Amino acid sequence: MPKFSFLADKPEYRFFAKDCLDAEKAFRSSPDSCVKLVRTAVDAAIKWVYANDKNISADTDNLFDLIANPAFVKIFGKDLTDKLHYCRTAGNAAIHNQKEFTFDEAARCLQNLFEFVRRIDKIYGKNFPRETFAASELLQTEICGLKLATPIFAASGTFGFGEEFADFVDLKRLGGVMVKCTTLKPRRGNDGVRITETPAGMLNCIGLENPGVETFLTKILPRIKDKMNVVVNVSGSSVADYGELAKLLDTDGVAAIELNISCPNVKDGGIIFGTDETQAAKVTDAAKKSTSKPVIVKLSPNVTDITKIARAVENAGADALSLINTLMGMEINIDTWRPTLGNVTGGLSGGAIKPVALRMVWQTAQVVKIPIIGMGGIRSARDAAEFFLAGASAVAVGTANFAQPSITMKIADDLEKYLRRHKLKNISELVGKIKA
Ligand SMILES: Cc1cc2nc3c(=O)[nH]c(=O)nc-3n(C[C@H](O)[C@H](O)[C@H](O)COP(=O)(O)O)c2cc1C
Repeated sequence: MPKFSFLADKPEYRFFAKDCLDAEKAFRSSPDSCVKLVRTAVDAAIKWVYANDKNISADTDNLFDLIANPAFVKIFGKDLTDKLHYCRTAGNAAIHNQKEFTFDEAARCLQNLFEFVRRIDKIYGKNFPRETFAASELLQTEICGLKLATPIFAASGTFGFGEEFADFVDLKRLGGVMVKCTTLKPRRGNDGVRITETPAGMLNCIGLENPGVETFLTKILPRIKDKMNVVVNVSGSSVADYGELAKLLDTDGVAAIELNISCPNVKDGGIIFGTDETQAAKVTDAAKKSTSKPVIVKLSPNVTDITKIARAVENAGADALSLINTLMGMEINIDTWRPTLGNVTGGLSGGAIKPVALRMVWQTAQVVKIPIIGMGGIRSARDAAEFFLAGASAVAVGTANFAQPSITMKIADDLEKYLRRHKLKNISELVGKIKA
């Protein structure tokens, strides 16, 4: 079997290396998952080639077209581009449950992928100087007393506990990692299908699966606390739960607590608090009274007027706001007539929600004084710059991490270039500067 581990030692390939390693790992358990993940890795590697080879370009995002581009075929040869086409077609069939794959077919996909990344390494590998990260003053900033190397966070639920991304991201270069939601007791999450791809986004109904706060504090936090700014995202079923969680997390290694009052995928809590001003204020107050850590309240877009909730939690003492969480959505399988997701509905995230998120950040920034961490569909420095202009003091990247595990680093690099181009000395000079 191919061994993709050589990729992990080469930071220049972080854009697609994790996907390749994931595909290889999945081969042992499920050919279908392996075929799906090969497709993800092939897509990421193709995009990497287009981003890194100045001699080719395309004005399309369609991966089949990118493979068929004569300039691309010239570099990699018809034999290999046919193999990439095969991987993508197989991956699509696996994703849409049109076919079950055998181990031999999964091995063929994996082998094709391996041939592709080896060829990439042969063609481009020698040109890369080793990357080193030096903190740049352009992006350094501060939010509720926290000093941040960059104003770019990883959004909760899309970045695990951060350590999973250590091979691809300089964790200290992030403002922080909003780790997967923690609850008082461990949760199994929802049954059935939990994730489905949508045009320019995804629907998820994970249902707050997590090992519980005790395991987090005893097993996970000691491992990650020196590696990054740890922002702990918490969710409860009652106001008292939030207070208790905030108290338990008032401990060394926790940079801030993010109250998830906006999860649309669980019945017992979360969004109930995020859609009612009084409840939102009570939860904020309970957490503030129980901890010395900064309290960030994460707002739901599933409301008529987000500014009312924002004001209520600011008045209750919130140190910062993060917005937005996912938008409630659904998908139906027209062959089975059943909802695709086990939970029937799920949360929509990714590029598709960016205009909604941006609008809500802009509206909220006009009515609160506390800093806002903007998120929702951010995939590039351009997207991030829009959020800063709308009034966000920092941003968080979620769904885009699945497609490109190293995307936060690219956003940081490109944001620096953007600031230089506009002759700005620090990111704070951009915040709220929309001319509207
Ligand atoms: C698979 C998945 C799991 C998520 N889990 C959480 C969570 O545990 N807590 C939370 O506050 N938000 C969670 N979110 C919401 C994200 O943190 C983020 O607010 C949202 O996805 C919008 O950003 P994006 O479009 O960049 O992904 C999750 C999102 C996804 C896609």
